[in-house]
Amino acid sequence: MQEISEYLDKNKDRFINELIQLLKIPSVSADPAYSQDVINASEAIKTALLEAGCETAEICETKGYPIVFAEKIIDPELPTVLVYGHYDVQPADPIDLWDSPPFEPQIKTTDIHPEGAIFARGACDDKGQMYMHVKAMEFMVKTNQLPCNVKFMIEGEEEVGSENLGQFVADNREKLANDIILISDTGMIAKNVPSITTGLRGLSYVEVEVTGPNRDLHSGLYGGAVANPINILTKMIASLHDENNHITIPGFYDKVEELSKEERAQMAKAPFNLEEYKKALDINAVYGEKGYTTNERNSIRPTLDVNGIWGGYTGAGAKTVIASKAYAKISMRLVPHQDWKEITELFKTHFEKLAPEGVTVKVTPHHGGQGYVTPIDNNGYKAASKAYETTFGKTPIPQRSGGSIPIVSLFENELKSKTILMGFGLDSDAIHSPNEHFGIWNYLKGIETIPYFYQNFVELSK
Ligand code: BES
Ligand code: MN
Ligand code: MN
Repeated sequence: MQEISEYLDKNKDRFINELIQLLKIPSVSADPAYSQDVINASEAIKTALLEAGCETAEICETKGYPIVFAEKIIDPELPTVLVYGHYDVQPADPIDLWDSPPFEPQIKTTDIHPEGAIFARGACDDKGQMYMHVKAMEFMVKTNQLPCNVKFMIEGEEEVGSENLGQFVADNREKLANDIILISDTGMIAKNVPSITTGLRGLSYVEVEVTGPNRDLHSGLYGGAVANPINILTKMIASLHDENNHITIPGFYDKVEELSKEERAQMAKAPFNLEEYKKALDINAVYGEKGYTTNERNSIRPTLDVNGIWGGYTGAGAKTVIASKAYAKISMRLVPHQDWKEITELFKTHFEKLAPEGVTVKVTPHHGGQGYVTPIDNNGYKAASKAYETTFGKTPIPQRSGGSIPIVSLFENELKSKTILMGFGLDSDAIHSPNEHFGIWNYLKGIETIPYFYQNFVELSK
């Protein structure tokens, strides 16, 4: 590829600055207070895609936030790459824990990013990673090296479950038709250890409510004589794991794909340092399902986690009270072959049965999605692998991730195409956490690597 490093050298300050402008828009999809900002972000993406050289770009309305669709078709005979990303971001809470304001991006250095990293909500997930594709497109178009057709579909509801994207995809199969889907919304092992994500976990997210007496009670007058919903809820939740940290919901593991010894041995070859892992999190031991390594626990094994729990009095000082209600939000990460709707039902049936007399239980499913595994013997994977070889000087390691992008399995079903996950983030980039950041080195490396993917993919498709 001609001149990509030269083009980067010349334009990198502008590339960084454009990303910073985008990060200033607080496009938090979960909080209605930011709805105008989310819409503003979609407009900014549309403009950026046109400036990068897309022939057409449109804002496609949905029942929720719009989807930005843009394309450049140079020859219907050539392959088509569909780029997916999201312009919405997670809420910044807890704001107090940010060292600089989440929507006032700042460049700071860290041990891992001595070249500097941009600190802002969405820097890595996913504005920074999505914008790498916009800038790679700009390079290919401006230097007359775009080797195939490109479509962009950038949504604004990924962080809240992509509720309207499924319908959009089903209604627009022709418009979205492609030969390969390319996404940068995952991570890589380390800056000197490139990796391609070959698996994502599925998800089932539910909220539970336990109700005891019809009002909050004096914990002295009634304590001991009526069921305390918080006591009951925590007991029910505790029973969802056994002493080996296996999940106790009947049928939960029935469809779990068990990896062969060889596959597990292959996985174990990926560089991983347990001491560093513990140190980075300030923990003195890891914790999880018996019989599996840390990397297996967070990728090929399903999980059940409480994400939030509340009820009763949590204000200053003490109040003696037995709450009428207790609540929790619970997520289950699922692995290939587990069906998220089936698991949600299994959870509901089991959790309702767990409730003792004296309380009632309500389970409300939120959102969910299927997991995904991609084979590595296809042109998409090969094209990506070769691209990393060129820009990193190393063959990337295929790696299953623990995170979820539910829409990927839907793409496969509706559009019949494979997805290649070229992630450039690091675990330490703190996505969804305070002080999220994205390394400038990673950002530029992404922009440098992506054009090679296109070139290789077109070559391999001939
Ligand atoms: N980009 C993440 C998913 C991710 C991150 C996958 C890193 C692999 C590595 C995405 O934006 C995300 O946060 N997904 C949610 C699920 C969604 C349904 C809210 C998640 O994984 O919690
Ligand atoms: Mn994301
Ligand atoms: Mn996310």
